[in-house]
Amino acid sequence: MLLGVNIDHIAVLREARQINDPNPLDALGICKLSGANQITIHLREDRRHIHDNDAKQIIKQSALPVNLECSINDDIIDIVCKLNPHRATLVPENREEITTEGGLDLANNFERIKKVVKKLHKQGIEVSLFIDPNKECVELSQKLGVEWIELHTGTFANLYAMLFSGLQNTHHSIKELELSRSELHILLDKSLNKIKHASKLGHQLGLKVAAGHGLNYQNVSLITSIKQIEELNIGQSIIARSVFTGLAQAIEDMKALIKG
Ligand code: PXP
Repeated sequence: MLLGVNIDHIAVLREARQINDPNPLDALGICKLSGANQITIHLREDRRHIHDNDAKQIIKQSALPVNLECSINDDIIDIVCKLNPHRATLVPENREEITTEGGLDLANNFERIKKVVKKLHKQGIEVSLFIDPNKECVELSQKLGVEWIELHTGTFANLYAMLFSGLQNTHHSIKELELSRSELHILLDKSLNKIKHASKLGHQLGLKVAAGHGLNYQNVSLITSIKQIEELNIGQSIIARSVFTGLAQAIEDMKALIKG
């Protein structure tokens, strides 16, 4: 299973001080030497972490393929076409959100996304769609002619965190998931089954299947057990661990887990 390391959070730390340290570019060599297979970055419309020049330099200097997450906004897509990354992952974006909260609404944006996919393909950029793990989204993705789907594992990760990480005892407890443990267990099983079914269907339809969002050292083995998933994109948990262990060790630890 391949690992894309999302290095946005290095830029989050830099932006907290509005200086030039830590520099996301310094992560590129470490990611490669530690066994990462891909660099993932998100050029958000509000540029809250990765900026245009970061994206430009990362794409120019990375020895690993770069997966650039972006919205379907016309201006952003024009920039992505110029940047020419290996892959563009289209994600929904909402200015107020802390992080990407759900998958793309393919049904209501089908024609618009079709045009974007065509434009990116014309530049030779492969395309992935960040989608919720359900039948409709997988089938629409295939109709859009993309190479990859990335299944949103956020619901699964939130349920897992409420059950097993003590999140409910903190000020970041997820209010709508303050349920009994047995209810959380039922919902966790359901969310995992959805990811399994969507992965299987995607694979059957000839799509390459990735997964990401909220994956960490505790929950990842449930996702790696799904054999149709070829790649994980993981950011927050790796960068969080790197504060204590260093980035190289954090990546090696995750690689060891996802290799089984
Ligand atoms: N994949 C996609 C499409 C994302 O938008 C994100 C968050 O930027 C990730 C993976 C990584 O999520 P996390 O930081 O929770 O590991």
